[in-house]
Amino acid sequence: MQVTEYKPLIVAFCCNWCSYAGADLAGNNRLSYPADVKIIRVPCSCRVNPMFILRAFQRGADGVILCGCHPGDCHYTTGNYYTRRRMALLFSMLDYLGIERERTRVEWVSAAEGAKFAATMNDFVAQVAALGENKRLEDLRCKK
Ligand code: FES
Repeated sequence: MQVTEYKPLIVAFCCNWCSYAGADLAGNNRLSYPADVKIIRVPCSCRVNPMFILRAFQRGADGVILCGCHPGDCHYTTGNYYTRRRMALLFSMLDYLGIERERTRVEWVSAAEGAKFAATMNDFVAQVAALGENKRLEDLRCKK
């Protein structure tokens, strides 16, 4: 019998101006992070409605990470301040629902922080892998 290693599916929302450029820099510097991290580029971290995160979990994601510019550096001036407030509310809702807090994370990664991007993704994937599959929020109708 062959045992396959569990690999979590991670959705990473990255803002175009900092975090996505940070991911690009990680690639240019040949820094590796797991291929199970699926990046979705968004114009700004505040474009991510908390419903997108819940929908990602519903569709089978094991972990969701939201990356944006550092506070004060948002291309749209205050976008990530909205993100910070919204995510605080989402995290408390997830706590209330009994979803492990470690399955979601917010990180500020600038365009010059390729190494931080790769390290963050490696750390997050390891953290989610330790939790195992997301069974609570997954909609079984979405399973292939
Ligand atoms: Fe990056 Fe707003 S543009 S967080």
